[in-house]
Formats: sequence, structure tokens, C-alpha cells
Amino acid sequence: MSQAAVASPLTARRTGPLTGRARVPGDKSISLRSLILGALAVGETRITGMLEGEDAFSTANAMKALGATVERTGERAWRVLGVGVGGFAQPAAPLDFGNSGTGCRLSMGAVAGCPITATFDGDASLRTRPMRRILDPLERMGARVRDIKEGGRLPAVVQGARDPMPIEYEAPVPSAQLKSAVLLAGLAAPGATTVIEKEATRDHTEKMLKHFGANVRVTAFGQHGRRITVEGQPELEAAPVVVPADPSSAAFPLVAALIAPGSEIVLEGVMLNPLRAGLLTTLKEMGASIELLDQRNEGGEDVADLLIKAGALKGVDVPAERAPTMIDEYPILAIAASFAEGETRMRGLSELRVKESDRLEATAAMLRGNGVEFAIEGDDLIVRGKGQAAGGGVVTTHMDHRIAMSALVMGLGSAQPVSVDDAAFIATSFPGFAELMRGLGGDLS
Ligand code: S3P
Repeated sequence: MSQAAVASPLTARRTGPLTGRARVPGDKSISLRSLILGALAVGETRITGMLEGEDAFSTANAMKALGATVERTGERAWRVLGVGVGGFAQPAAPLDFGNSGTGCRLSMGAVAGCPITATFDGDASLRTRPMRRILDPLERMGARVRDIKEGGRLPAVVQGARDPMPIEYEAPVPSAQLKSAVLLAGLAAPGATTVIEKEATRDHTEKMLKHFGANVRVTAFGQHGRRITVEGQPELEAAPVVVPADPSSAAFPLVAALIAPGSEIVLEGVMLNPLRAGLLTTLKEMGASIELLDQRNEGGEDVADLLIKAGALKGVDVPAERAPTMIDEYPILAIAASFAEGETRMRGLSELRVKESDRLEATAAMLRGNGVEFAIEGDDLIVRGKGQAAGGGVVTTHMDHRIAMSALVMGLGSAQPVSVDDAAFIATSFPGFAELMRGLGGDLS
């Protein structure tokens, strides 16, 4: 997405109940991994249910620039012809990951194990995000950072290792992107590369590596953590990938239906991976009516149709250990909490400060501008819900799709309309968001 693109404001207004059925786009984490692992595998990876959003397009372009063939073969159907582990070609130009932190950081790991030099870059939002957390372990594996902006920001020039070394790495922050980057670099190293995470984060990389034939071992570590080991230099074999509906995208119509009185909607095929299900757990504790219908397995993940009915919500205490399983869902949980009765305390949100925006600050500004009482105490956000929200604000989205969608959901339930200054970045993860919400009866214009 061009940084110079004209801003496109959007306003949401309270209407009647939301009704009907919808399917949100494919999971962003799985879509991006299928492109990157497809590019590292030998043979043809067929992807169905692919997220056709900006983050996937920029990652697909990067994989092409590194020598893979990536083609769209139909609606949400893509094919990738990979080059094999360690087989990336020297890209002719900088790799532009747009808004996608996941695409960029996982690709850094994949490039770190190849004897090439690549420049990583992105839009103004991605250029503010910390890259040292990824590059430090990759340097231990033999990669070199040839150039990087002050503070460890993009653009960064990374030289991959000719002879990458396996490492055992204890992640200092709970981050699936960091874990994935090290595991992907480890693919090119002889022997076992291990990542230890004190708190388990989304496990899509390790699951997909197994699916592509790599030898991956996962064991428990401490109370909440895991130890993940990949054997290097596997013959990574292309395999079909079915992408389920993204629970982080489903979160927006889900909360909209909870707060717009009288609503009853069904969201189809939503992924239930326990490491992504923290929001469902929390909303149920708040008293939300969410039924799981037709539970089944799609592409190795449990999915269900969610039947959601509007109703009263109450404030709850959300423990810090739950954060990795709902890290992208705090802005929309803050909206649900605004419409609940009583205090919701969300603990341990430090990682929110390094997302597409400083999401803790952006969420606070969204609440402040729309008459919601809240406080920030250390890394905790406390929302004092009054059963309803005033609205009436214009929310600055800071190039952050999830802030934009959260603000618009608020406007569907608040007394006064809520506007966003720029809805364009919604297309990074949820193309067709406004149309889908209008299809359910939402007033967005
Ligand atoms: C993601 C990991 C999370 C999440 C992001 C997607 C992934 O980031 O916020 O939207 O696909 O691995 P961190 O790993 O930085 O927590």
C-alpha cells in the first residue's frame, strides 16, 4: 500500500440489529506462512481460502523477488512453486513488505539461512517497528546485518549465512514472529535448532513445518511455555494448505453483534486454535452468548460456525498469561468492555506498544474520544464500562487496521456515530470489511 495513498474516512452509525451469516477472510498468519513455506519447499503448494489482502500481496511479491513462483489460480486459490531450503535468489530490488510485520520478520528468518543479501523495507508504520529482536538471534546463527536504521528500524540490509549454525534460543518476549524467524533460519542449518518460549504463542509455523515433512518436536516448558525443535536441512515437500477463517478478523463482526441490541448472526468456519482463542474465552466470561455449531476440522485446525446473540456483558479481569492467545484482540475487547457493566482489567499489554501502531496509546485515544472511562496502570488497561458508549469521536487510526475496525464497530453500537480518519489499512487483513458489515445490516458510509 502506498504511503502517499489518499486517506479514506469512514463513519459507522447505530442501526437496528445485525442479522444473517458471513464468512470472514482467511487467517492472516496461516496465509503468510503458506506463501513463505511454499517458497521454501520443493514442488507446488496449492493454497485454498487464502487471505487476499495487502499483507499477503506484499509477502507474495517478496517471495517472487526471491525466486519462487506465486500465482493466483482462482478466487482465494493460489499456487506457489518453491525453490527449496537455502535456495532463495539474490533479489534485484529492496523487498517491500508494506504494513506486514509478520511477512517481513518471517522472511528475515528464511533469508538468514541463504547466501544472499536482501534489503527489507516497509511502509511508515512498519518502519517504526523493532527489528533487533529478530535480527539478534539470526546474527547468532551466522547472518549479518549490513545496514539498519537507528533504533533497529527498517530499512535493513541482511546478509544471509553461507553456513548457518543451529542454536538454542530462549525468546525474551512472547512472539510467534520471533519464534518463527529462528525456526525458519534453522531449516538451513545442520542439526537441531530450538526455540524456548516461556509463554506459548500461536503454533502455525511448527504445525505447517510438520505438514511439509520437517521433523519438529514440541514439548512443554514450565507452566505456560514450550520448547520447539526443528531438525535442519530437511527436504521440505510442498503440500496443500487449507486456510480457515481468521479468528482475529471474526472478532469484529462478533463484538458488533454482541453490542448491537437484538442482533443474531452466524460467522462460518472460524478457526478455534487454542493459542488464538483468548478472546472467545474472555467474552464468554463476560456473559456473551456464543455457540459453537458444526465443529469440524479444516486443514488441520478445529473450526466451527459461531452463533452470536446480543446481550448484557459484565466486566472481567483478563490475566496476563492469556495475552499471547489474544494479542491482536485487545482493541476490540476494549470496545466490548466499554459496552459491559463494570470494570474490565486487561493485564500485561506491553507488547501492544510495538504493533502496527502503539496500540495501547491508540486504543486509549479511541476510548477517550468517544466518552469511555478508562485508565492505564503500568501495562494494564482498565475500562470502566457503563453498558453503553457515547461515541461521537473521529478516531486516528495510525495506519493500524485493527484500530480502524474496532472504532467502526463501536460506532455501530454507540449513541453518536464514530468516524475513522482512514479506513484504507483495513485492506491489509480484512478486504471487504465494510461490505461484510453492511451485509449484516451495519450502517457504514
Ligand atoms: C503474528 C504474531 C503476532 C501478531 C501478528 C501475527 C504471527 O505478533 O500480533 O498479528 O502471524 O506470527 P508477535 O509475534 O510480534 O507477537
